[in-house]
Amino acid sequence: MPADTLTVVDNRTGREYSLPIVDGAIRATDLRQISAAEGDGGLMSYDPAYLNTASCRSAITYIDGDAGILRYRGYPIEQVAEQATFLETAYLLLEGELPTADRLARWEEDVRLHTYVHTNVTKFLEGFRYDAHPMGMLLGAIGALSTFYPDAKEIGDPESRYLQRVRLMAKFPTIAAFIFRHSRGLPYVLPRNDLDYVGNFVNMTFEIGGRHEPNPVLQRALEILLILHADHEQNCSTSAVRGVGSSHVDPFSAMSAGIAALYGPLHGGANEAVLRMLDEVGDKKNVPGFIESVKGGGGRLMGFGHRVYKSYDPRAKLIKQVADQVFEQTGLNPKLEIALELERIALEDEYFVSRKLYPNVDFYSGLIYQAMGYPTDYFTVLFALGRLPGWIAQWEELLNDPEQKISRPRQIFVGPDERSFVPMSDR
Ligand code: ACO
Repeated sequence: MPADTLTVVDNRTGREYSLPIVDGAIRATDLRQISAAEGDGGLMSYDPAYLNTASCRSAITYIDGDAGILRYRGYPIEQVAEQATFLETAYLLLEGELPTADRLARWEEDVRLHTYVHTNVTKFLEGFRYDAHPMGMLLGAIGALSTFYPDAKEIGDPESRYLQRVRLMAKFPTIAAFIFRHSRGLPYVLPRNDLDYVGNFVNMTFEIGGRHEPNPVLQRALEILLILHADHEQNCSTSAVRGVGSSHVDPFSAMSAGIAALYGPLHGGANEAVLRMLDEVGDKKNVPGFIESVKGGGGRLMGFGHRVYKSYDPRAKLIKQVADQVFEQTGLNPKLEIALELERIALEDEYFVSRKLYPNVDFYSGLIYQAMGYPTDYFTVLFALGRLPGWIAQWEELLNDPEQKISRPRQIFVGPDERSFVPMSDR
């Protein structure tokens, strides 16, 4: 019997099967040969929420959740966050290698040349109500870009894919900034091509009367946050991008699926939920009572816990350092005291320790965004801006993977057996 196999005995039939193990996995389709009766379709694996199912082979991001390790294309997140720019990180994720100086310059220039959006985009943004949630606006606007670029459906053409990649990276911050201005009733500020990627975005959000004094510490802090969010392998929004992209729709539509997934409070909406939670706690002295209510089932400690990290999220560690730098500039946020106390008590509490619940990337990021002047309901837009290169890289990897097909899970049918339709008069 070859060593790299799994022997399965079907006790229903007494038959024995040998399934190959490759890269620590068996193929779920190999189970199909295990059948107890003719026509039963063979054995399936059942894995709601994909707790233990790999949906792809990927060379982009590596996570070891137990050891708290995160690497982009092999480079530790700590080194990337310290040394790279966001566009350089995007290049690394998209191309697989760090750019040379020339390649980076070309990539930056390509993105810079596409930052403007068609003025009709501003017209439909204006149609949103003044209090529309920024994520609802973002997912609509990014999806709508597909109507401006019908060539984007040429997903089999690498040149077209590169152009859409550039358009997405370039126009996303412009649209995100317009959404910010819309929510505040401020006129849109057009992109400035003399500024770098993050500087331009910050300027488009905060410029008033043609003036904005950038704070280099805050700008770098935002850039680090974007880098920390840039990819996280097969999370909910990335799986949404891949699932929708597997139908071969254009990338703007696929990215808007990612934005929709990120909107949810269990995913990207968590940093917003953290701030609301800190408001609810209100004061450091209420922390023990709040922790008790969480343990009693009265809601979750938002910003805690992660599907794959069963130790401290390495991004949360880096974000805590960024928070120190930001609060040195902006002064202390009183909510930070509550957050630190929540973390201190939770990390000592049996409930959280036994379930391996640690702060995740969202626990402190919201406090930083707030200190920078971004409103709570805008935080997830910043997360989406950071995650964009990861979504694009994963989408392209999907398209280049000959093993991939349209995403189509199986089900275990538990509904009623065949029955006759009952006319209305007999119900
Ligand atoms: N507060 C209190 N209890 C929690 C929390 C939490 N934040 N997270 C998990 N638990 C408990 C669950 O109640 C469960 O307890 P039980 O075994 O007694 O039933 C146990 O820990 C396991 O939780 P699951 O829900 O099975 O874990 P899962 O992997 O499905 O969920 C998730 C991960 C969604 C992140 C979860 O921890 C959570 O809801 N956290 C709060 C929301 C949050 O911060 N999301 C951001 C995630 S990071 C990101 O998207 C960037």
